[in-house]
Amino acid sequence: MLNDLLERNAVWSGAKKTGEPDYFMRLAAQQTPDFFWIGCSDSRVPANVVAGLDPGEVFVHRNVANVIHSSDMNLLSALEFAVDFLKIREVIVCGHYGCGGVKAATEDLPQCLTDHWLEPIRRLARAYAVDLVKEDGEEARRDRLAELNVIEGVRRVSETPILQRAWSRGLCIKVHGLIYGLKDGRLRDLDCTVGPGHFEAEGESGARAVT
Ligand code: CO
Repeated sequence: MLNDLLERNAVWSGAKKTGEPDYFMRLAAQQTPDFFWIGCSDSRVPANVVAGLDPGEVFVHRNVANVIHSSDMNLLSALEFAVDFLKIREVIVCGHYGCGGVKAATEDLPQCLTDHWLEPIRRLARAYAVDLVKEDGEEARRDRLAELNVIEGVRRVSETPILQRAWSRGLCIKVHGLIYGLKDGRLRDLDCTVGPGHFEAEGESGARAVT
């Protein structure tokens, strides 16, 4: 299988060079992405592919169910690098419908490490139980929970000292929440964008309710 993968890579690399002889030289010369993508590890949601972007155009962090843990050093390091060194201007938290991680968070605890990772989604499910029960069926409930997880993720990213510091320096960085449909390949804006001045507008606590 590995040989297959290496062969596919050789074919892909050759095709790219045929189309544009200096394609890789151009990409290797600089990394100047506009976007920092925080998404799910799901193999069906590769950031570059679904966003139609070339290598070099999006800086990516992915984990199971795109959960934002405020103490996740991996995520925070990537976010800091993206903001302070790559000078990205758009942060995208992207979830997807049919997310296995979100589904797992709605089921009985199988007592594995993933339970700890998914705890913020369980907390959201408890907090919005009254709203979620109104959804038509289990799949719709999970998909709404996936949306709530993105909206919560946008809020958490926005509350990190990294973003707060960037905004206090006058940088115009926006944090967006998107959801991807596995069945139609479309990205949808959840209209929960946070940008400079948001917290002043929301008051001292900055604690905006998830809607
Ligand atoms: Co997923």
